[in-house]
Amino acid sequence: MAPNEVTPNKVIDRQEWVDKKAAGERITMLTAYDAAFASLLSQVDGLDMILVGDSLGMVIQGQDTTRAVTMDAMLYHTEIVARASQGIAVIGDMPYHSFDTADEALNNARRLMEAGASAVKIEGNKPEVVSRLVEAGIPVMGHLGLLPQTAENFKVQGKDNKTADTIFKDALELEAQGAFAVVLECVPRSLAQKITEALKIPSIGIGAGPDCDGQVLVLHDMLGLTQGYSPKFVKRFAQLDSMVIEAVQSYSDEVKSGNFPTDPYSYH
Ligand code: KIV
Repeated sequence: MAPNEVTPNKVIDRQEWVDKKAAGERITMLTAYDAAFASLLSQVDGLDMILVGDSLGMVIQGQDTTRAVTMDAMLYHTEIVARASQGIAVIGDMPYHSFDTADEALNNARRLMEAGASAVKIEGNKPEVVSRLVEAGIPVMGHLGLLPQTAENFKVQGKDNKTADTIFKDALELEAQGAFAVVLECVPRSLAQKITEALKIPSIGIGAGPDCDGQVLVLHDMLGLTQGYSPKFVKRFAQLDSMVIEAVQSYSDEVKSGNFPTDPYSYH
């Protein structure tokens, strides 16, 4: 194999995820968008999946929303992550307008799989799209609740009975169409629990409380690399922003003062 070739990542077998849930095994997923983090994440014992999320629009591209993220950008980052990670499932996010019709969805999902994804994630309940992809052998992760690609406001979804009912029914429908897991974003804990209990496939929460079968966070948020507003559900497991600033400050100071590089850092 050529050194740069994308190695096949973990194959998604739906039954395996159903069995994990039945066994009470909790599922972990984090986002990654580049080789450095993908390589580190794939060394973490027990981390189940890397999501190449379209959150890269904000995290990597500095945009305000995910809506401007293109299929080309998703292919680029999915390939990078797939190349650098090993033995871990890589989920490629389908960007806004990449699944407007079932034909477009199939074509774009195939491209993500060719780029090294083990599965694709689709926002919203699109039964005809999900069943077409599943029939074509492409594993699909659903995504319900707050849908950043189409959301009018970035608030908790499903607080009233009508919306809660829709999200609940959508989750059951996604399972019936063959999705292997479903992300629940920003929904009340009680709704996430009800959905989780009703599904055979795992629910993966983000801002959905502790009763989901699994959890996903944006890597840069949980590492404390993103600055500014942080939603309530984000726990910072590290504060890397200050570490980066301090390290770069030291580097800059030492170069300017002539303390770096010194002889031990030189070739002779
Ligand atoms: O794009 C993304 O990172 C996501 C997660 C927040 C679930 O969709």
